[in-house]
Amino acid sequence: MSKILVTGGAGFIGSHTVVELQNSGYDVVVLDNLSNSSEKSLDRVAKITGKEVPFYKADIRDREALEKIFSKEEIGAVIHFAGLKAVGESVEKPWEYYDNNITGTLTLVDVMRKHGCKNIIFSSSATVYGNPAFIPITEECPKGQCTNPYGWTKSMLEQILSDIQKADNEWNVILLRYFNPIGAHKSGTIGENPSGIPNNLMPFITQVAVGKRDHLNVFGNDYDTPDGTGVRDYIHVVDLAIGHVKALKKIEEKAGLKIYNLGTGHGYSVLDIVKNFEEANGVKIPYEIQARRPGDIATCYADASLAKKELGWEAKYGIREMCEDSWRWQKNNPEGY
Ligand code: NAD
Ligand code: WQD
Repeated sequence: MSKILVTGGAGFIGSHTVVELQNSGYDVVVLDNLSNSSEKSLDRVAKITGKEVPFYKADIRDREALEKIFSKEEIGAVIHFAGLKAVGESVEKPWEYYDNNITGTLTLVDVMRKHGCKNIIFSSSATVYGNPAFIPITEECPKGQCTNPYGWTKSMLEQILSDIQKADNEWNVILLRYFNPIGAHKSGTIGENPSGIPNNLMPFITQVAVGKRDHLNVFGNDYDTPDGTGVRDYIHVVDLAIGHVKALKKIEEKAGLKIYNLGTGHGYSVLDIVKNFEEANGVKIPYEIQARRPGDIATCYADASLAKKELGWEAKYGIREMCEDSWRWQKNNPEGY
């Protein structure tokens, strides 16, 4: 059986996906430059699954390194997580984001086609909808204006991969638009490991809970939402990982070009998350209301019925488990890996 190359496989979503792939019997190879991750995550994956994780420390912009991997390993499909993802940093360093994410993906895809591997699952994001034209967001919702270079890299890469598939229908391209992934594997041994001050809500909350930060800043309570704070569709990272296994089955059936939202269909406000976290874990999260964060939208949640219909996938975990599992990981690993 050919192998699945997971780029960015040492990262948060990648490491959880490697677990689900190995548990489903896939032969996995990971490529990561470790710019935002630690190789330890893969040792922990191996402990969970009981299988070694073959690893190449390499950059997706490094054509020679990719050539070596594709010559040595028989790769049947690529799940492509590798990319830079910090929204604020992308505003400061647009060139680095376009180079890493776009040049990197173009190089990867070129080496793939030279080696006759034309199956790719790409990590896209709900950010491509911009300020969504309607809620809940279906895949039919028009793409919108992104407010930062990171978002544009996702939007542009969706276009690039779609055009490549249209020009050569041997390609199978699945674009997965993730909503807000949180949570961690039940073992509490792998999880999200942000460097510096977390940008995202859940890692900030867990760092308050573990005593690394004294309070949460809530960015705005004057949005047009039930309690005034931003509403998002938080999805357990293990559900998201399973979504990739389902997408791989779709690729095996010759998918052509497909786009799926991966969300739960439920919206929770910032204060809902604080309350659920406190109740699930018995920890107090002090917070202060601050000004809105530039670029934020009021409400974003998915209609994920297409993924249910065509992939047979739907999210199983609720908000309580997301809060419990995020906390277990942080509590057991206060300094990350
Ligand atoms: P992450 O930073 O934990 O994982 C990304 C991995 O890619 C890291 O291990 C990093 O070292 C690696 N990487 C980055 N640039 C690379 C390069 N040039 N060559 C090789 N490896 C490289 O992030 P994540 O949260 O696991 O996200 C995975 C993917 O999903 C990313 O593409 C991200 O943009 C996308 N995504 C994430 C979210 C989210 O909220 N976490 C939401 C939507 C989409
Ligand atoms: C969620 C809510 C904040 C932090 C981002 C990217 C998106 C995708 C997922 C990759 C919002 C509020 C947050 C804090 C707060 N990533 N918040 N205090 O902004 O929905 O999405 O991550 O593709 O592209 O933009 O996620 O977790 O940053 O914020 O009040 O310290 O929490 O205002 O309402 P977001 P988030």
